Amino acid sequence: MEKKSFTITLDGPAASGKSTLGERLAESLDFMYLDTGVMYRAVTLAVLNKNVDVNDEGLVTKVAEEIDLDIHPATIDDGRSNDVILEQEDVTWEIRLPDVESNVSQVSAYKGVRVAMTKKQREIGNRGGIVMVGRDIGTVVLPDAEIKLYLDASVEERAKRRYLELINRGKQATYESVLDDLKRRDKIDSSRAIAPLRPAEDAIMIDSDHMNAEEVFQYIFKLVEEKKNLQV
Ligand code: DC
Repeated sequence: MEKKSFTITLDGPAASGKSTLGERLAESLDFMYLDTGVMYRAVTLAVLNKNVDVNDEGLVTKVAEEIDLDIHPATIDDGRSNDVILEQEDVTWEIRLPDVESNVSQVSAYKGVRVAMTKKQREIGNRGGIVMVGRDIGTVVLPDAEIKLYLDASVEERAKRRYLELINRGKQATYESVLDDLKRRDKIDSSRAIAPLRPAEDAIMIDSDHMNAEEVFQYIFKLVEEKKNLQV
């Protein structure tokens, strides 16, 4: 019998392939998938929509504490992994726009914002049967998770993948601009005072520089199956 509270955390820097791996793992195990980055993005969008100054930590925190945010499994088949509903409106794609992209690192560095989002994430995570993806899930949000994964790759490799992904989606981009943006985000995510990006001490480390998505999945799926069998 499967243990109901089984939980997998998956952390790592931007564009390391977390969502590809996380979604596939969740699907294979029939678990829920939650990308917590969308929560910080939704707070950022709410801040921008309300014309709140992103430098005003107090006001931004208030937005995060009062946000009407609902995330559930995708109901539309358009490449999304979850529906993100902000104030009753579907903002799944809006949270990917450049304005949100350029402000989300700052918003997600505020303590009050993190406290509010961590609370929501724990409520969902404690139900078990979930693959939760982010930056601080194994270290802060769900430190007692049964399996903690940390997916990494060099910034050049991540930039190459993200650049090709953008070009294939018909977007304008240069490799250099993608690389610069990832370096900037890495710096903010890993140097912030609260819940910085780092692996949990007992995380399984995966360096995907020389592995493709399929190889990473097969490797992790095997580990998860072994661990799951030990838990039963
Ligand atoms: O994974 P992403 O690019 O969608 O994340 C958006 C931003 O949110 C990014 O700046 C890192 C931040 N984030 C975070 O601080 N903690 C998380 N658990 C998830 C994302």
